[in-house]
Amino acid sequence: MPEAYRSIIKLAREAHPGGRVSVQRIGSLVNDVFLVEADSEKFVAKQYTNWLSLKWLTLSIYGIGSVNFSISGRKRMEAEFGVNRLLSDQGVRVRRVVGVDFSSRVILFSYVPGDEFSRLMRKVAKAPDFDDREKLATFSIGETMAVTHSMDLSIGDTRPDNFIVDRKGESTLLDLEQAKRGGDPAWDVAEFLYFSGHYWLSYNKTLARITDEFVNGYLNVHGTKAILRYAASARYLRLFSIWTPPFVLSGIRHRLLKA
Ligand SMILES: Nc1ncnc2c1ncn2[C@@H]1O[C@H](COP(=O)(O)OP(=O)(O)O)[C@@H](O)[C@H]1O
Ligand SMILES: [Mg+2]
Repeated sequence: MPEAYRSIIKLAREAHPGGRVSVQRIGSLVNDVFLVEADSEKFVAKQYTNWLSLKWLTLSIYGIGSVNFSISGRKRMEAEFGVNRLLSDQGVRVRRVVGVDFSSRVILFSYVPGDEFSRLMRKVAKAPDFDDREKLATFSIGETMAVTHSMDLSIGDTRPDNFIVDRKGESTLLDLEQAKRGGDPAWDVAEFLYFSGHYWLSYNKTLARITDEFVNGYLNVHGTKAILRYAASARYLRLFSIWTPPFVLSGIRHRLLKA
């Protein structure tokens, strides 16, 4: 790990010359993401290791035969770097790449202030204070996904913690290490909605509004209805039945089929 720290500090110094640099791990023990502070400027560094981290272990067990995940660090880094560029060129909100070190497999990103979308969902699932921020966030995530899909790209890991929502409700897509050409766009929709649904015990009004906003955002920028309907198919529902209550899954599924 010391090699990673050395290149993180080097990249931060290039981006922000002079001053003190601090590096600290963020998130759980299984990921390789660091908060980097150079004086008062914040960055996030991500190292793409070859380790079969727990995250991919769990998702690939669920996804056996359904989705192909990249395990190799080099491939994940190339995916993140390449797709980040393609999306930002099209005006999709992604974290800005500040520096790259291919030999230690580290990318330094700009820091995106806000909350993970999953945090918003946890909150509104408990107390239904669904306001404009949640509404715009969900709608804009739908739009982001549709634009990505219209470029013949799929995101691969659309868990709700891969979107950061700012104060107003504008969302930024973070994690592109599983993104690729082609791929399975219906999986993107399925993973996002069924994963978000696991904070609910039943398909209530709030979750119905969330699903509506996502669908409306998706269709607003010429997303295809066929992809939404395909996300309602049994092959995805089966994967999420371990996580998400059956009535929640079927509520989301029926909404997708109506699209
Ligand atoms: N640029 C950023 N600004 C703010 N938070 C970030 C940024 N990049 C990552 N994070 C936080 O770190 C978490 C993990 O980052 P991510 O790239 O998704 O890596 P992984 O899921 O592979 O561990 C995100 O869910 C988010 O909470
Ligand atoms: Mg992630």
